[in-house]
Amino acid sequence: MTIVVAIDGPAAAGKGTLARRVAKDLNLAYLDTGLLYRATGFAVIQAGGDLDDANDALKAAQNLTPTDLENEKLRHDEAAQAASKVAVVQPVRDELLEFQRRFASQPPAGKAGAVLDGRDIGTVVCPDAPVKLFVTASCEVRAQRRLKELQDRGLEAIYAQVLQDMKDRDARDSQRAAAPLKAADDAVILDTSDLGIEEVIEQAKSIISEKA
Ligand code: C5P
Repeated sequence: MTIVVAIDGPAAAGKGTLARRVAKDLNLAYLDTGLLYRATGFAVIQAGGDLDDANDALKAAQNLTPTDLENEKLRHDEAAQAASKVAVVQPVRDELLEFQRRFASQPPAGKAGAVLDGRDIGTVVCPDAPVKLFVTASCEVRAQRRLKELQDRGLEAIYAQVLQDMKDRDARDSQRAAAPLKAADDAVILDTSDLGIEEVIEQAKSIISEKA
């Protein structure tokens, strides 16, 4: 019997850092599902396609290979914005669903289970996950975190632009018809606005040990 931890929430709320640490400390396999959408959006750009064209997006999702997920450029904001455009297309989501579900139900040998982070893990990908966390923080706090992350990577960025991009992406993710960003009814909400990462990790681990 393996355990599945579903972590959802908006951009830069701290999901990735939390998911990575929980995976390491509890010996779970980790899947960053945002990478699948980023790689799909990036492939559309690379092919000279149209990000608002559902067929271009679907073709890119169908042709994804594991090496497409290793591109450093997927961490740039251009890929994030592209991801949130292709992510509104239901057939793209359907195409990526089976891989995510298989990862959750059949983690690699030696792992005690899997942790997946994204926008719809607790609601659509793994609705039966025993542990669901919804990690959030105010838009301003998340924009500050993203700004620092970009600057730490040596990329130029200004707060006002990062904040606007964040708001645009939040709106697209939560207002779309296909698997919109929202907390599952049985998710525990973790607001990280005023918490340090170690506190968030401790809270998450205690919730997991209660529920798993
Ligand atoms: O998590 P990350 O910021 O890398 O995700 C990039 C974009 O991919 C999100 O803004 C969202 O539009 C999309 N996404 C999604 N469902 C997921 C993960 C990501 O729609 N499970």
